[in-house]
Amino acid sequence: MTHQPSRTAIRNGLVVTASDELHADVLIEDGRIAAVAATGSTVAEGWSAGRTLDATGKYVLPGGVDAHTHMDFPFGGTFSSDDFETGTRAAAWGGTTTIVDFAVQTKGRALREGLDRWHAKADARCAVDYAFHMILSDVNEGTLKEMDLLVEEGISSFKLFMAYPGVFYSDDGQILRALQRGASNGGLIMTHAENGIAIDVLVEQALAAGRTDPRHHGEVRRALLEAEATHRAIQLARVAEAPLYVVHVSAEEAVAELAAARDKDLPVFGETCPQYLFLSTDNLAEPDFGGAKYVCSTPLRPREHQAALWRALRTDDLQVVSTDHCPFCFTGQKELGRGDFSKIPNGMPGVEHRMDLLHQAVVEGHLTRRRWIELACATPARMFGLYPKKGTLQPGSDADVVLYDPHAEQTLSAETHHMNVDYSAYEGKRITGRVETVLSRGETVIDRRTFTGRAGHGQYTPRGLCQLLR
Ligand code: URP
Ligand code: ZN
Ligand code: ZN
Repeated sequence: MTHQPSRTAIRNGLVVTASDELHADVLIEDGRIAAVAATGSTVAEGWSAGRTLDATGKYVLPGGVDAHTHMDFPFGGTFSSDDFETGTRAAAWGGTTTIVDFAVQTKGRALREGLDRWHAKADARCAVDYAFHMILSDVNEGTLKEMDLLVEEGISSFKLFMAYPGVFYSDDGQILRALQRGASNGGLIMTHAENGIAIDVLVEQALAAGRTDPRHHGEVRRALLEAEATHRAIQLARVAEAPLYVVHVSAEEAVAELAAARDKDLPVFGETCPQYLFLSTDNLAEPDFGGAKYVCSTPLRPREHQAALWRALRTDDLQVVSTDHCPFCFTGQKELGRGDFSKIPNGMPGVEHRMDLLHQAVVEGHLTRRRWIELACATPARMFGLYPKKGTLQPGSDADVVLYDPHAEQTLSAETHHMNVDYSAYEGKRITGRVETVLSRGETVIDRRTFTGRAGHGQYTPRGLCQLLR
């Protein structure tokens, strides 16, 4: 293990947080931010530090918080190809220093059993800090009671699926009960909002008509069925007087449902993911089964939906960008669905590229720098009870810090990425900006484009309640 001095000064960078941009130096002591002071000020000049990092020409950012990952996740008879070791190492490479992964309740079993399994998967393997949401696959009296205990111990959000009948699916009554429980114990209910029952009818009809290619995955998972489920989830949350967080929003019509709810001042939140902002049904239509690389749910949409997503990110109708990182190799995993798109494991790789792709959005004028950090760091931390420990750079925050070169050029590729998956969803895409150095609680895990971290450095991080509720 490399020795890390207890005091580090990062000098001459542009510090960017959700609220400020300033030419400032950052002092780190014992793994936390000790001070931020204007570069050249007598305060900053007076610091003595065992180590100085020169950030001239660089941004100094809070480490990214990716609130939606699936490491070692069971789906369609296989498991996502990144485990906690490879997935969190890739996260570090991309400037993400905290992930919130989804522990899974097996149907008919206790939440505790699923949570213990997720702790065992992650324990001593992570390169960066991690926390858990819990997937509720089975809402009943027992699991509702368990929710209270989980909230108390730092698992303060629960995902329910309106899709995938027979697997993770919950019906409206179960969702209502979970929302009511969340209203009383403070847990935040997250919904995968797609009408899975109707989608399964369309899947059956498509396959019967010989429409078996990956592009039909996008066609049967209709935008209207995302919007309908989003609307229904919002109404159920209103009835329960509970807040709601809708994951991986991809359809313009679903965004409209969220915006309408927020216009009524309802505590309804939404996230989208880079794949919906940068990719489209054109990718799902790639030849020779290549579209399978882009099969995820909610699905990629026609390109025209992207403008609505960007607008919602600017107007705060969507508040978070996470990755829904759930990679499956093309060879041997995505291929399970050759001849039947419904058997393609759902999910895409992305944990390594979120900060960069959102910086590209800054370069292209979709977002401001501060909004980039708000969407990728501060708001996910607030949403899931991690702020200001995570998501910002203020005295007392964990020293999760990214030195970011905004002018470096890079080309995304499976040849160079660090995720354990045999393709890149962004193969050949040229972008401006690159993570140079990453600190996690003051320890250097990426040092000028070399991995210096270790499995087991990342700590389990219990969470508080959602911090965005009045
Ligand atoms: O396709 C996806 N999103 N796979 C992961 C599971 C989920 O629904 O989030
Ligand atoms: Zn989902
Ligand atoms: Zn997911």
